[in-house]
Amino acid sequence: ILKIFLCTAGAFVLGSVPVGLVLTKLFSSKDIRTQGSGNIGATNVARVAGARLGLITLALDLLKGALPVAAAGLMVPSTGEPAMALAGLAAVAGHCYPVFSGFTGGGKGVATACGVFLVAAPWACLVALVVFLAAVAGFKRVSLGSILAALSLPAGTWFFYGTGPVAAAAATVGLLVVARHRANISRLLAGTEPPFFKKPGQDR
Ligand code: G3P
Repeated sequence: ILKIFLCTAGAFVLGSVPVGLVLTKLFSSKDIRTQGSGNIGATNVARVAGARLGLITLALDLLKGALPVAAAGLMVPSTGEPAMALAGLAAVAGHCYPVFSGFTGGGKGVATACGVFLVAAPWACLVALVVFLAAVAGFKRVSLGSILAALSLPAGTWFFYGTGPVAAAAATVGLLVVARHRANISRLLAGTEPPFFKKPGQDR
Protein backbone atom coordinates (compact mmCIF):
# COMPACT_ATOMS: atom_id res chain seq x y z
CA ILE A 1 0.00 0.00 0.00
CA LEU A 2 2.83 2.40 0.88
CA LYS A 3 4.53 1.64 -2.44
CA ILE A 4 1.29 2.27 -4.33
CA PHE A 5 0.88 5.59 -2.51
CA LEU A 6 4.48 6.58 -3.29
CA CYS A 7 4.12 5.68 -6.97
CA THR A 8 0.85 7.59 -7.27
CA ALA A 9 2.16 10.68 -5.48
CA GLY A 10 5.43 10.56 -7.44
CA ALA A 11 3.47 10.27 -10.71
CA PHE A 12 1.33 13.29 -9.79
CA VAL A 13 4.41 15.41 -8.99
CA LEU A 14 6.25 14.32 -12.15
CA GLY A 15 3.11 14.87 -14.25
CA SER A 16 2.88 18.38 -12.78
CA VAL A 17 6.21 19.48 -14.29
CA PRO A 18 5.18 22.01 -16.97
CA VAL A 19 7.64 20.85 -19.63
CA GLY A 20 6.30 23.05 -22.44
CA LEU A 21 6.29 26.15 -20.25
CA VAL A 22 9.84 25.56 -18.96
CA LEU A 23 11.29 24.75 -22.40
CA THR A 24 9.73 27.76 -24.11
CA LYS A 25 10.89 30.02 -21.26
CA LEU A 26 14.44 28.63 -21.50
CA PHE A 27 14.86 28.38 -25.25
CA SER A 28 12.61 31.08 -26.66
CA SER A 29 11.54 34.42 -25.30
CA LYS A 30 7.88 33.46 -25.54
CA ASP A 31 5.32 32.89 -22.81
CA ILE A 32 3.39 29.92 -24.10
CA ARG A 33 0.44 30.69 -21.83
CA THR A 34 -0.34 33.95 -23.60
CA GLN A 35 0.30 32.87 -27.19
CA GLY A 36 -1.42 30.59 -29.68
CA SER A 37 -4.06 28.56 -27.88
CA GLY A 38 -2.43 29.37 -24.52
CA ASN A 39 -1.97 25.66 -23.85
CA ILE A 40 1.35 24.35 -22.50
CA GLY A 41 1.27 21.17 -24.65
CA ALA A 42 3.46 20.11 -27.56
CA THR A 43 1.01 21.34 -30.23
CA ASN A 44 1.07 24.89 -28.93
CA VAL A 45 4.83 24.79 -28.27
CA ALA A 46 5.35 23.78 -31.92
CA ARG A 47 2.89 26.46 -33.03
CA VAL A 48 4.53 29.23 -31.00
CA ALA A 49 8.20 28.20 -30.70
CA GLY A 50 8.83 25.82 -33.59
CA ALA A 51 8.59 22.13 -34.44
CA ARG A 52 11.87 21.14 -32.76
CA LEU A 53 10.88 22.43 -29.33
CA GLY A 54 7.41 20.97 -29.90
CA LEU A 55 8.87 17.51 -30.52
CA ILE A 56 11.05 17.70 -27.40
CA THR A 57 7.98 18.73 -25.37
CA LEU A 58 6.06 15.81 -26.86
CA ALA A 59 8.82 13.34 -25.93
CA LEU A 60 9.23 14.62 -22.36
CA ASP A 61 5.46 14.88 -21.72
CA LEU A 62 5.19 11.31 -22.98
CA LEU A 63 7.92 10.18 -20.58
CA LYS A 64 6.08 11.87 -17.68
CA GLY A 65 3.35 9.29 -18.28
CA ALA A 66 5.42 6.27 -19.29
CA LEU A 67 8.06 6.37 -16.53
CA PRO A 68 5.81 6.35 -13.44
CA VAL A 69 3.60 3.61 -14.91
CA ALA A 70 6.64 1.45 -15.71
CA ALA A 71 8.04 2.16 -12.24
CA ALA A 72 4.72 1.21 -10.61
CA GLY A 73 4.67 -2.07 -12.56
CA LEU A 74 8.19 -2.89 -11.36
CA MET A 75 7.84 -1.68 -7.78
CA VAL A 76 4.46 -3.28 -7.05
CA PRO A 77 4.58 -6.52 -9.06
CA SER A 78 1.95 -8.36 -6.99
CA THR A 79 -0.78 -5.74 -7.51
CA GLY A 80 0.80 -4.35 -10.67
CA GLU A 81 -2.33 -3.50 -12.59
CA PRO A 82 -4.05 -1.27 -9.99
CA ALA A 83 -0.72 0.38 -9.17
CA MET A 84 -0.05 1.14 -12.84
CA ALA A 85 -3.60 2.39 -13.36
CA LEU A 86 -3.36 4.73 -10.36
CA ALA A 87 0.10 6.00 -11.37
CA GLY A 88 -1.16 6.63 -14.90
CA LEU A 89 -4.22 8.50 -13.69
CA ALA A 90 -2.06 10.56 -11.33
CA ALA A 91 0.46 11.46 -14.06
CA VAL A 92 -2.25 12.73 -16.43
CA ALA A 93 -4.08 14.50 -13.58
CA GLY A 94 -0.80 16.17 -12.56
CA HIS A 95 -0.22 17.36 -16.12
CA CYS A 96 -3.75 18.80 -16.31
CA TYR A 97 -3.85 20.19 -12.74
CA PRO A 98 -0.20 20.86 -11.75
CA VAL A 99 0.59 20.98 -8.05
CA PHE A 100 3.28 23.64 -8.69
CA SER A 101 0.82 26.25 -9.94
CA GLY A 102 -2.09 25.74 -7.58
CA PHE A 103 -3.75 23.07 -9.76
CA THR A 104 -4.42 25.49 -12.64
CA GLY A 105 -2.64 26.29 -15.90
CA GLY A 106 -2.08 22.66 -16.86
CA GLY A 107 -2.25 21.04 -20.27
CA LYS A 108 -4.78 18.82 -22.01
CA GLY A 109 -3.11 15.52 -21.14
CA VAL A 110 -2.78 14.00 -24.61
CA ALA A 111 0.97 13.27 -24.75
CA THR A 112 1.15 12.19 -21.10
CA ALA A 113 -1.84 9.86 -21.60
CA CYS A 114 -0.12 8.42 -24.66
CA GLY A 115 2.95 7.64 -22.52
CA VAL A 116 0.78 6.05 -19.81
CA PHE A 117 -1.09 3.70 -22.15
CA LEU A 118 1.96 2.93 -24.28
CA VAL A 119 3.13 1.07 -21.16
CA ALA A 120 -0.18 0.05 -19.55
CA ALA A 121 -2.20 -0.92 -22.65
CA PRO A 122 0.06 -0.77 -25.74
CA TRP A 123 -2.42 -2.19 -28.28
CA ALA A 124 -5.15 0.23 -27.22
CA CYS A 125 -2.60 3.05 -27.40
CA LEU A 126 -1.65 2.00 -30.92
CA VAL A 127 -5.31 2.06 -31.99
CA ALA A 128 -5.73 5.54 -30.44
CA LEU A 129 -2.58 6.68 -32.25
CA VAL A 130 -3.93 5.44 -35.59
CA VAL A 131 -7.26 7.21 -34.89
CA PHE A 132 -5.32 10.38 -34.01
CA LEU A 133 -3.17 10.30 -37.17
CA ALA A 134 -6.13 9.47 -39.45
CA ALA A 135 -8.27 12.25 -37.93
CA VAL A 136 -5.48 14.84 -38.10
CA ALA A 137 -4.75 13.85 -41.71
CA GLY A 138 -8.46 13.92 -42.61
CA PHE A 139 -9.70 16.94 -40.68
CA LYS A 140 -6.44 18.90 -40.35
CA ARG A 141 -7.21 19.71 -36.70
CA VAL A 142 -4.90 18.35 -33.97
CA SER A 143 -7.56 18.90 -31.33
CA LEU A 144 -10.14 16.79 -33.18
CA GLY A 145 -7.55 14.03 -33.54
CA SER A 146 -6.89 14.20 -29.78
CA ILE A 147 -10.59 14.10 -28.90
CA LEU A 148 -11.36 11.13 -31.17
CA ALA A 149 -8.24 9.30 -29.94
CA ALA A 150 -9.29 9.93 -26.32
CA LEU A 151 -12.72 8.44 -27.08
CA SER A 152 -11.23 5.41 -28.82
CA LEU A 153 -8.81 4.69 -25.96
CA PRO A 154 -11.32 3.19 -23.47
CA ALA A 155 -12.97 1.18 -26.25
CA GLY A 156 -9.60 -0.21 -27.36
CA THR A 157 -8.52 -0.96 -23.79
CA TRP A 158 -11.75 -2.84 -23.12
CA PHE A 159 -11.44 -4.72 -26.43
CA PHE A 160 -7.84 -5.86 -25.94
CA TYR A 161 -7.58 -6.12 -22.16
CA GLY A 162 -11.15 -6.48 -20.87
CA THR A 163 -12.52 -4.69 -17.84
CA GLY A 164 -10.28 -3.87 -14.88
CA PRO A 165 -8.27 -1.05 -13.35
CA VAL A 166 -6.47 -0.13 -16.59
CA ALA A 167 -9.75 0.01 -18.52
CA ALA A 168 -11.24 2.19 -15.77
CA ALA A 169 -8.19 4.46 -15.94
CA ALA A 170 -8.54 4.64 -19.75
CA ALA A 171 -12.20 5.69 -19.45
CA THR A 172 -11.36 8.34 -16.84
CA VAL A 173 -8.37 9.68 -18.77
CA GLY A 174 -10.40 9.68 -22.01
CA LEU A 175 -13.13 11.78 -20.39
CA LEU A 176 -10.57 14.09 -18.77
CA VAL A 177 -8.80 14.71 -22.08
CA VAL A 178 -12.12 15.47 -23.81
CA ALA A 179 -13.11 17.80 -20.94
CA ARG A 180 -9.76 19.62 -21.22
CA HIS A 181 -10.58 20.29 -24.89
CA ARG A 182 -13.72 22.29 -24.02
CA ALA A 183 -12.48 25.46 -25.71
CA ASN A 184 -11.39 23.46 -28.79
CA ILE A 185 -14.81 21.77 -28.95
CA SER A 186 -16.56 25.16 -28.94
CA ARG A 187 -14.26 26.35 -31.73
CA LEU A 188 -14.75 23.12 -33.71
CA LEU A 189 -18.53 23.49 -33.46
CA ALA A 190 -18.32 27.16 -34.46
CA GLY A 191 -16.02 26.27 -37.37
CA THR A 192 -13.24 28.51 -36.04
CA GLU A 193 -10.71 25.90 -34.87
CA PRO A 194 -7.53 26.63 -36.87
CA PRO A 195 -5.92 23.90 -38.96
CA PHE A 196 -2.57 22.49 -37.84
CA PHE A 197 -0.28 25.10 -36.38
CA LYS A 198 -2.19 28.27 -37.01
CA LYS A 199 -3.32 30.27 -34.02
CA PRO A 200 -6.96 30.28 -32.95
CA GLY A 201 -8.52 33.28 -34.64
CA GLN A 202 -6.05 33.12 -37.51
CA ASP A 203 -8.27 31.45 -40.09
CA ARG A 204 -7.35 28.83 -42.70
O1 G3P B 1 -2.88 18.09 -27.34
C1 G3P B 1 -3.48 19.31 -27.42
C2 G3P B 1 -4.15 19.41 -28.77
O2 G3P B 1 -5.13 18.43 -28.89
C3 G3P B 1 -4.76 20.75 -28.99
O3 G3P B 1 -3.83 21.75 -28.71
O4 G3P B 1 -2.96 24.03 -28.59
O5 G3P B 1 -4.51 23.37 -30.44
O6 G3P B 1 -5.38 23.62 -28.13
P1 G3P B 1 -4.20 23.27 -28.97
